[in-house]
Amino acid sequence: MDARTLGTAPHALPVSALGLGCMGLTNGFGPATERAAGIAFLRDAVERGVAFFDTAEVYGPRTNEELVGEALEPVREHVVLATKFGFAFDDDGRQVGVSSRPDDIRRAVEGSLRRLRTDVVDLLYQHRVDPDVPIEDVAGTVGELVAEGKVRHLGLSEAGPTTIRRAHATHPVTALQSEYSLFWREPEQSVLPVLDELGIGFVPFSPLGRGLLTGAVGADASFGENDIRATLPRFAPDALAANLALVERVRSVASRLEATPGQVALAWLLAQRPTIVPIPGTRRTSRLEENLAAAGLRLDEDALAELTAASDEVVIVGERYPEAMAAMIDRS
Ligand SMILES: NC(=O)c1ccc[n+]([C@@H]2O[C@H](COP(=O)([O-])OP(=O)(O)OC[C@H]3O[C@@H](n4cnc5c(N)ncnc54)[C@H](OP(=O)(O)O)[C@@H]3O)[C@@H](O)[C@H]2O)c1
Repeated sequence: MDARTLGTAPHALPVSALGLGCMGLTNGFGPATERAAGIAFLRDAVERGVAFFDTAEVYGPRTNEELVGEALEPVREHVVLATKFGFAFDDDGRQVGVSSRPDDIRRAVEGSLRRLRTDVVDLLYQHRVDPDVPIEDVAGTVGELVAEGKVRHLGLSEAGPTTIRRAHATHPVTALQSEYSLFWREPEQSVLPVLDELGIGFVPFSPLGRGLLTGAVGADASFGENDIRATLPRFAPDALAANLALVERVRSVASRLEATPGQVALAWLLAQRPTIVPIPGTRRTSRLEENLAAAGLRLDEDALAELTAASDEVVIVGERYPEAMAAMIDRS
């Protein structure tokens, strides 16, 4: 697979053009994958050229990092590990709000290092901005962890432009990870101009629109209680039926190119900027193979324009997140 670079020297991080979102292996889309199968799947991904893996303390919680750590320990030198801190947990381990107090960051990183079976986290993101902790304190703490050799690069997730500037002024930010796809293009207005100006890479999460853009989610889809889409307004039955209009437009471009809708959706993202590295998530080898082939798919100007126009014209119905989750998004 082609390589790409997140961030700017001396804070640049070379990665594979597509990473792998590991969340679904433990949560988000139904029951967790059986452990041995998950390990085999992740090792196979390395064989297929994936060198950039995305996890987080909150996935599981914590079991996702354990799975990734066990699977990738034998190939640690050949892969980039990205994880995230920033949620708070109660005594039973349940997630309760956010916390980026310096002590909590340090506690989270010690746990991540242990679970990931490594001495250093390559890319450490703040998962959600904590309104009670100045971002300078957060970036400063991660800067200290970089100086101590426990972390290589600082990242942010779903941070707004002012927060990004303030963090970057304290310790250079290598990448922002936020949702971006044909299904959700707000970053083009809100953060991408700032990332371009500051030389920060962009890692789109949910690049397949949580599966919608692959064409595999039909109007009659039902989502189980462990599937986050059961709670997302855009996947409520009426909204889903309307939003499938975008998928039909993507499908029409894909069939002309003898590609799949998901491949075209990923290739469109890769074509937006050389600094973009999407992290599609899957638990199935056949889908992984399909998704990775998108890194070699070059869309011509007509195809790119048609996809952009489709995304401009189809009005997406339903909010991106329910209220409580939306409240965690930094808009500053
Ligand atoms: N920073 C954040 O706040 C944040 C938030 C969400 C996600 N993330 C990260 O981003 C990663 C990707 O996002 P995501 O998982 O939310 O959404 P996504 O990558 O857009 O879509 C994942 C969904 O698409 C399905 N899928 C994948 N490839 C497919 C294919 N070729 N054909 C049909 N269906 C396919 C998957 O099902 P199967 O697994 O069954 O294949 C899963 O249901 C996550 O794993 C996580 O690491 C970060």
